[in-house]
Amino acid sequence: MPELVRYHVQEEVAVVTVDNPPVNALSPGVPEGISEMVARAAADPAARAVVLIGAGTTFIAGADIRIFGTIPDREASLRRSREIHARLLALEDCPKPLVAAIHGTALGGGLEFAMACHYRVGVPAARVGQPEVLLGIIPGAGGTQRLPRLAGVPTALELCTQGNHSSASRALAEGILDQIVEGDLLAGAIAFARAKAAAGEIRKTRHLDARIADRQAGLTACAAARAGLRKIARGARAPYACVDAIEAALTLDFGGGCQREIEIFADCVLSAESRNLVRLFFAEREVAKVPGIAKDSPARQIRSAAVVGAGTMGGGIAMSYVNAGIPVILREAGQEALDRGLSVIRKNYEISASKGKISKEQVERALSLIRPTLGWEGFDQVDIVVEAVFENFELKKSVFAELGRVTRPDCILASNTSTLDIDQFAQASGRPASVVGHHFFSPANVMKLLEIVRGKHSSLETIATSLQLAKKLGKVGVVVGNCFGFVANRMLAYYLREAHLLLEEGASVSQIDQALTDFGFPVGPYAMQDIAGIDVGARIRQYLRSIGKTRAEGPQSVIPDQLYEMGRYGQKTGAGWYRYEPGNRAPVPDPLIEELAEKAAAARGLTRRPIAAEEIVSRVMTALANEGANVLAEGMALRPGDIDVIYVHGFGFPRHRGGPMAYADHLGLPAMLAKVREYRQTFGDHWSASPLLERLAAEGKGFYS
Ligand code: 3HC
Ligand code: NAI
Repeated sequence: MPELVRYHVQEEVAVVTVDNPPVNALSPGVPEGISEMVARAAADPAARAVVLIGAGTTFIAGADIRIFGTIPDREASLRRSREIHARLLALEDCPKPLVAAIHGTALGGGLEFAMACHYRVGVPAARVGQPEVLLGIIPGAGGTQRLPRLAGVPTALELCTQGNHSSASRALAEGILDQIVEGDLLAGAIAFARAKAAAGEIRKTRHLDARIADRQAGLTACAAARAGLRKIARGARAPYACVDAIEAALTLDFGGGCQREIEIFADCVLSAESRNLVRLFFAEREVAKVPGIAKDSPARQIRSAAVVGAGTMGGGIAMSYVNAGIPVILREAGQEALDRGLSVIRKNYEISASKGKISKEQVERALSLIRPTLGWEGFDQVDIVVEAVFENFELKKSVFAELGRVTRPDCILASNTSTLDIDQFAQASGRPASVVGHHFFSPANVMKLLEIVRGKHSSLETIATSLQLAKKLGKVGVVVGNCFGFVANRMLAYYLREAHLLLEEGASVSQIDQALTDFGFPVGPYAMQDIAGIDVGARIRQYLRSIGKTRAEGPQSVIPDQLYEMGRYGQKTGAGWYRYEPGNRAPVPDPLIEELAEKAAAARGLTRRPIAAEEIVSRVMTALANEGANVLAEGMALRPGDIDVIYVHGFGFPRHRGGPMAYADHLGLPAMLAKVREYRQTFGDHWSASPLLERLAAEGKGFYS
């Protein structure tokens, strides 16, 4: 078994190397090893100073996240934290200059170890941060006490409450790093350490009080941070806990502040919020692991692409490719649509430039990567084509037939269809192994989710290429099965069905949206439909009616189709479920919807009634999780975590609640099943418990267990 922490002396400097691939996490044995080797250096007459460095591609990326789930209770958390705090105090008391040499990332506990060193140097590409908040916890090894002392309260508040990484240059400017090393990191760190030893200098972070001396300014910054969090925390608790702990650095001495941090950490690490976020951390990495596909499975290189259709989605997809540096041919059916599509793309880039996010040159460079066309020229050169024409079955089939003729045999043919059968397009193309669904989410250049729809004949190479491509495009690629609506939209149909029924039964559009934004969604279902376009769903329903199907079984509200017939498509037409003033995207409730709801209720013989927010949340969540169970049972999603990742990245499901399947587990599957049965009795047989939900509830299991 390789040593987790190694020791050697070089140029009179003890070099302590952490070697725990892949990210040098502080797994059992690593903190102990660092303590032991630094103590050895302190006693080693051959060493005048010490450098702490990481082997491989990174410094220490933090605590081993797998450990959090094994902490049984508060006492155990307090004990562990006290131990790690004592360990870092001992490091800081090393009698010889101790220098952290940072490459890759120093995150969480990694930065906390570095801050307990006397000095920190890093390569220009190094990044540092306290991302614990993204796991529902606070820095737990003195970070909330040492970071404000090193970098000041505002920086500590920002890094800890948002979990952002800081670049090396910013870290240097803010006092987190003492020097940037160009060239060989170890050589630079040794030279730095020798200079400190020669000057007899040692600086202990815990004794630096200058940056927290202005207590009033610090307390004001904490109050401002709390106020800012009300807008962005969406119900998460950990960001506030970070502020509480940092505030303790202002109101208590170092020891008292550490004690406060230890207590707050214990509260957080045992919370449902932390359990959900840790689960998501691993689920987000697990989605890339697909049976039959290894890390080194053959995949094609995607160097050039074409997109067919320059509408809402085609334009956004083209931007995603361009943003990843991949040139795109953009094809439309007519000049007017092509011009419109290009001008929307230009406008989007210019908005980014006006906000200072990109330069004017970058706008022009991005646009120069797009080659507009009305024909098929150049399609025989590209590595992938993404089809994004209207959601019309026959049209898409004819496009795939054409693509089969005009592209190279090894070109991947992807459809952005929201619902339709990939296998039929595969057949039409004559090259089924290369056909796959690439279901982007609107706006495609912003939303992180990419559903990769595996057809009956999609080859492993096609799927492996899609997974790699998703990463390159900055997306989270999740492989799903080929069923109507795939995973995201299939489940969404149940979410929307319940929302519409609640509306008819007596809730208002703004009340339903409010209940779900209070739950943590960035927008409620009605504001979301107004953004996506009411026409999109209406066309899907038209198609389904033409083949005698409905999206989600049960009573179908007539109101969405009534809005479509009135030309109320949402924000794009100035009215949908809400009204919009010209030039303003703020939704304004419209009494017309109440009138439509009254009529719809009367037609179904319903007496409208007041509905509480709890019922709204409970019904839509139960509908989502119950259908999620069906999706899992049919193998349309590989794991419950895949569904949760889809909902977090595709629809803004609040991360700290983990996703619909984690939500169900948290509630307990027997309780969720009881709700389905209660709703069946009250509302009708369209509420039908998923057999998987019934089985797991009977076995006392959760979706994740
Ligand atoms: N613990 C355990 N495993 C970890 C880990 C950690 N802290 N960080 C990464 N890993 C694992 C991943 O699960 C993945 O495993 P897999 O290959 O089996 O799927 C592998 O390492 C590689 O990770 P990525 O795929 O994420 O690799 P990238 O190169 O894309 O990113 C990274 C590297 C930036 C370090 C990223 O992994 C990351 O952000 N990790 C989390 C860092 C973090 O949150 N640190 C704080 C931990 S909490 C803490 O320190 C508490 C302290 O205050 C007491
Ligand atoms: P859209 O109506 O905005 O754009 C479709 C474009 O395709 C139009 O500009 C049209 O002129 C063009 N087109 C039609 N036939 C063509 C052809 N033969 N060659 C080239 N271009 C052609 O539609 P939108 O919203 O962009 O949807 C496109 C696809 O993406 C649909 O399959 C839709 O279901 C799917 N989708 C839509 C989402 C949304 O939120 N709007 C989300 C995810 C997927």
